[in-house]
Amino acid sequence: DNGPLWGGRFGTTPAEAFERLNASIPFDARLAPYDIRGSIAHARMLGERGIVSGEEAAELERGLRAVLEEVEGGRFSWTLSDEDVHTAVERRLREIVGDVALKLHTGRSRNDQVALDLHLFVRDAAERMGEALLAVMRAIVEVAEANRDLVLPGYTHLQRAQPILLSHHLLAHFRAFERDLTRLRMAREAASASPLGAAALGGTPHPVEPALTAKTLGMEPLLNSLDAVSERDFALDLLYAAAVLGIHLSRLGEEWVLWTSAEFGFARLSDAYSSGSSIMPQKKNPDAYELMRGKAGRLVGNLTALLVTLKGLPLGYQKDLQEDKEPIFDSVDAVLAVLAVLPEMLRTATFDGERMANAAGGFALATELADFLAARGVPFREAHRAVGRLVRRCEEAGLPFEEVPEDELVAAHPALADLPRELLTPKGSVANKSSPGSTSPDSVDAQLARARGLLREL
Ligand code: ARG
Repeated sequence: DNGPLWGGRFGTTPAEAFERLNASIPFDARLAPYDIRGSIAHARMLGERGIVSGEEAAELERGLRAVLEEVEGGRFSWTLSDEDVHTAVERRLREIVGDVALKLHTGRSRNDQVALDLHLFVRDAAERMGEALLAVMRAIVEVAEANRDLVLPGYTHLQRAQPILLSHHLLAHFRAFERDLTRLRMAREAASASPLGAAALGGTPHPVEPALTAKTLGMEPLLNSLDAVSERDFALDLLYAAAVLGIHLSRLGEEWVLWTSAEFGFARLSDAYSSGSSIMPQKKNPDAYELMRGKAGRLVGNLTALLVTLKGLPLGYQKDLQEDKEPIFDSVDAVLAVLAVLPEMLRTATFDGERMANAAGGFALATELADFLAARGVPFREAHRAVGRLVRRCEEAGLPFEEVPEDELVAAHPALADLPRELLTPKGSVANKSSPGSTSPDSVDAQLARARGLLREL
């Protein structure tokens, strides 16, 4: 019997161009290990429920394991006429175990089968992405600890705002990644549901036991067969987690692109994580960080692609759903590729503490003076105005703010007579913070201790 597995009611084989359009095998072949694991769980359940005999179930499982070995060894031969991964595996199974293979699909449809494969893939991907993200978080904590006392300006509007500790800055990224990890775990949770037993959409007359297959796979069984074959929420969850993570990675990447520029000069990348120019011999480019920023575009695009694919679909399987796979694969690959370079790229970079500290001084200390006055009972608005005048005066007279003479301070506001000069330094300013979660060294130490503890638990 030639032709597709649905060939019974058809008079001719499919047109070649249609076959090419219809086939998912060029991209869903990578689901094969998940497809086979799902089939093994299904075959066991068929045996346990007496839908096939115990020997038949064992034979099916033996054959499926043989197919899995071929797939994993790269010896499986994929052909477009198999249409999709499910058909390809079943075809090969029959070649290995003979006609008993024809019983495997009892009580099952490709609709619950493909939904299961995707659940298994997403669950696995969320796990791997989480592990890779943890490696980044570990590197961040290490780099923050090793550079705990370096100061740099915090920016608003990309204008120097106030001095902060580099470690505080790095820990801000850590917090974002913590939330990303939570989102990845939620996606993993959502993917831990088995659609097997739904069959095409309404269940099956065979005495299948969804809880059995679900248990074998470490999943929750379906509660509604129609929902089980229709929903792709778990995939959206993963794509959303990847998109938000992508935005966070892009933000980090953008900062490093700035920091490694001659204009900032805050940091240098190891040569191992930089590339050069084919024409300009002096160039050392932060390509990896640019790609991190660039990948965010496709991560957002992939989420949008699946959302729009799902929009307007009624319940039940529609072939549109075949379009769910490539965005998922692409997002997973992009995130894993970026996360694979980031930990070592962070560890091997070096900082120019002096340049950062210089940039964090000067007018970036103005708020400190206003806060000093306010702490002495001067209404904050009045303090703000007085220090603003002092800034203008220094700017006009070309006076370095940190060395502003006593008489200028007193002229700006009499209460500035008692100003401890230490406050007019980046380190002094940082040390003067006292609010919880602030950039003060004590707060940063507490944040570091918490992060360390968290990494031990996670
Ligand atoms: N290749 C299909 C997909 O990726 C598998 C499910 C096919 N089901 C069907 N009724 N045509 O979605």
